[in-house]
Amino acid sequence: MSDALNPFWDYYVCVLAIVSILACAIFLNAQSRGRKPPTTTETTGHTWDDDLTELNNPLPRWWMWLFYITIGFALVYLLLYPGTALYGGVLGWSSKGQLKEEVAAGDAKSAPLYAQFRQTDTKILAYDPAAHAMGERLFQNNCSQCHGSDARGSRGFPNLTDDDWLHGGDPAAIEETIMDGRHGLMPPMGAAIGGDEAVLDVANYVLSLSGSAHDAARAALGKEKFAVCAACHGADGKGNIAVGAPNLTDQIWLYGGDLKTIVATISRGREGVMPAHRETLGTDRVHVLAAYVWSLSHPAPAPVAQGGPPPR
Ligand code: HEC
Ligand code: HEC
Repeated sequence: MSDALNPFWDYYVCVLAIVSILACAIFLNAQSRGRKPPTTTETTGHTWDDDLTELNNPLPRWWMWLFYITIGFALVYLLLYPGTALYGGVLGWSSKGQLKEEVAAGDAKSAPLYAQFRQTDTKILAYDPAAHAMGERLFQNNCSQCHGSDARGSRGFPNLTDDDWLHGGDPAAIEETIMDGRHGLMPPMGAAIGGDEAVLDVANYVLSLSGSAHDAARAALGKEKFAVCAACHGADGKGNIAVGAPNLTDQIWLYGGDLKTIVATISRGREGVMPAHRETLGTDRVHVLAAYVWSLSHPAPAPVAQGGPPPR
C-alpha cells in the first residue's frame, strides 16, 4: 500500500489515525454525559479585567453535533480512500493511478498530432510552428540540462546551433543520435606518440591546423606524429563523423582550444556520452525533437508560415 520499507510504519500510521479519531469521539461523549442544564450563575471561577467572568456551561448541542459529523466524515474518508497505510479504500483511488490516467489522457490528445507529424519530412516539420513549440518544450525538459536552454552547449557538451557536427547534422543522423545515443571515445595517446615532449609537439601541430597561435618548430615536429591521429581525425584533421572525431581545423572546440587543454586531451583522452532516448521518448517525440534541433542550425527564412517554405 505505502512505499515505506519497514511495514512497522504502515501499522503505526494506521493505528495512530484510527485511535486518534476514536479518542476524539470518546472524549466528546464523556463531555456530554451527565449534562446539566445551562445556568447563568455558575462560573468557572476565572475573572479577567476586574469583572469579566466565564460561565461554566456545557458545550452547545449544535457544536457537539458538528464535531460528531467531522468524526463521521473522517471514518467514511478512511473507508473510501487510502488514508491508512494498510487499506487501499473502497474506491481504489491512488495518486499513482490518477497520474497514469492523466498521462494517458494527455497522450491520447496529442496522438493524432504526432501521427500527422510522423508523416511529415523533418525539414518541413522544422518550420511548422506547432511542431517547433512542442520540440522546444521537449528539449527544455529532456536536453537542456546538458546542452543548455539555448542549446549552445558548454565544455564537453556540443553546441547544437552551429553547423559543426561530431556525428552528423542531417536529420537522419540527428534522429539516430537522439534515439540511440552516442559515445565519443578518444583513447589516451601520450604513450602511443612517445611521451610528454611528443604530446607538446602534436598539440602545437593541432593548433596550427586552425591557424591558432602556436610554436612553429614544435608543430613541424608534431606533423609527422599526427599520423596516428589521422586514423580518426583524418589526414587533413577535418574529423570523421563515423567515429565522432571532431574537426580540428575550425576554431570550434568541444573541450577547449588552448595549449593546456589540448595537451590534456591528447595525453588523458576524452569520453563524451550522449544518452539514448529511445525508451524514454519514443519514435514520435524524437522525430519532432530532431526537427527542432535541425532548425536551430537552419533558421527559417522569415516570416515563418504554416507548412513553411522549403529550407535551403
Ligand atoms: C580512436 C580514434 C581517435 C584517435 C586515434 C585520436 N582521436 Fe582525438 N578524438 C577522438 C574523438 C572521438 C574525440 C571526441 C571525444 C568526445 O566526444 O568526447 C576526440 C577529440 C579530440 C580533441 C578535442 C577537440 C575539441 O574540440 O575539444 C583533440 C584536440 C584531439 N582529439 C586530438 C587528437 C590527437 C592530437 C590525436 C593523436 C595523438 C588524436 N586526437 C587521436 C578520436 C580519436
Ligand atoms: C547527460 C547529458 C546529455 C543529455 C541529457 C543530452 N545530451 Fe546530447 N549530447 C551529450 C554529449 C556529452 C554529447 C557529445 C557526445 C560526444 O562527445 O560524442 C551529445 C551529443 C548530442 C548530439 C550530437 C552533436 C553533434 O555534434 O553531432 C545531438 C544532436 C544531441 N546531443 C542532441 C540531444 C538532444 C535532442 C537531447 C534531448 C533529448 C540530448 N542531446 C540530451 C550529452 C547529453
